[in-house]
Amino acid sequence: VGHINDVQELRKAKSMVIPQRFVRDMAERPTLARVPKSSSYNIPVIDFSKLLKGSKDEFHSEISKLSTSCEEWGFFQVINHGIDLGLLESIEKVAMDFFMLPLEEKQKYPMAPGTVQGYGQAFVFSEDQKLDWCNMFALGIEPHFIRNPKLWPTKPANFSEILEEYSRETRELCQKLLKFIATSLGLNQDTFEEMFGVAVQAARMNYYPPCPRPDLVLGLSPHSDGSALTVLQQGKGNSVGLQILKDNTWVPVQPIPNALVINIGDTIEVLTNGQYKSVEHRAVTDKEKDRLSIVTFYAPSYEIELGPMPELVNENNPCKYRRYNHGEYSKQYVSNKLQGKKTLDFAKIQTN
Ligand code: SIN
Ligand code: FE2
Repeated sequence: VGHINDVQELRKAKSMVIPQRFVRDMAERPTLARVPKSSSYNIPVIDFSKLLKGSKDEFHSEISKLSTSCEEWGFFQVINHGIDLGLLESIEKVAMDFFMLPLEEKQKYPMAPGTVQGYGQAFVFSEDQKLDWCNMFALGIEPHFIRNPKLWPTKPANFSEILEEYSRETRELCQKLLKFIATSLGLNQDTFEEMFGVAVQAARMNYYPPCPRPDLVLGLSPHSDGSALTVLQQGKGNSVGLQILKDNTWVPVQPIPNALVINIGDTIEVLTNGQYKSVEHRAVTDKEKDRLSIVTFYAPSYEIELGPMPELVNENNPCKYRRYNHGEYSKQYVSNKLQGKKTLDFAKIQTN
């Protein structure tokens, strides 16, 4: 990625002309026309405090909401998650400050082709592939061996410290959520923790500058996540950019102040043999407003081979996926362009 395809630099140049590499084919262009205004299209909200310390009734009703969310939406927003709101503000600030640095400074941390660590555009493999209207900065977090310390920026000065603290909190949130998700499936609450080993955690920050022609471009191509769980923080005062595919319709995720968006990744879809869905999502841009999202991916250890849980496989729901380890899956994921739920084909058992 040179100057040419850096969307912040394009934005600075203030040209109304969108370079061809960003202009989507007709079928891919975002249109809000098919989004119904009905409230049945608001993604579910889970009150985490009811799961942690609610009455028995509150707990059960929240667990049942959680299972419906995972089965029908693959997405939900968590309120009262317990993470310090000051920390959410801090991570947003350091992320934004990073993206606002001069290009030369950011390019000290270049994303190598075929990897998703550092600054740049991920998932780009050919000259004729369309580009997303987005700048990314991604870092491996845990376990430590996945880190590339050379990519942790020295500016802004407290970036690493804040990211470290933020990652500890989101890791804990994922671990707690996985307990409740196991409970919602009628399984022992430690099921996932015991299966996952030392979980892999990564962070990605996405910055979408305003775009003069939001009708022609995508902020982020449609994809499902390879993780078990993803935690997504949407910047305050930003445009509504995240959309999820529900009933063949792109449904916008209206940010709730201080809430976190959680989604089920491919790993949980596989482990639950398709009962909990990893749902396709994308990001769109806005003419006036920029947008920041901060994403945490949480996944099993690379080495442990996992597959659909026997408890969730039966005559009515025969085994849909084979066993594999997350290391193989990740490799598959990062060596292809983002393309809906395509990576999941890697795990599908052929039936015909
Ligand atoms: C993502 O799917 O990684 C990010 C989507 C968003 O920016 O909301
Ligand atoms: Fe995603």
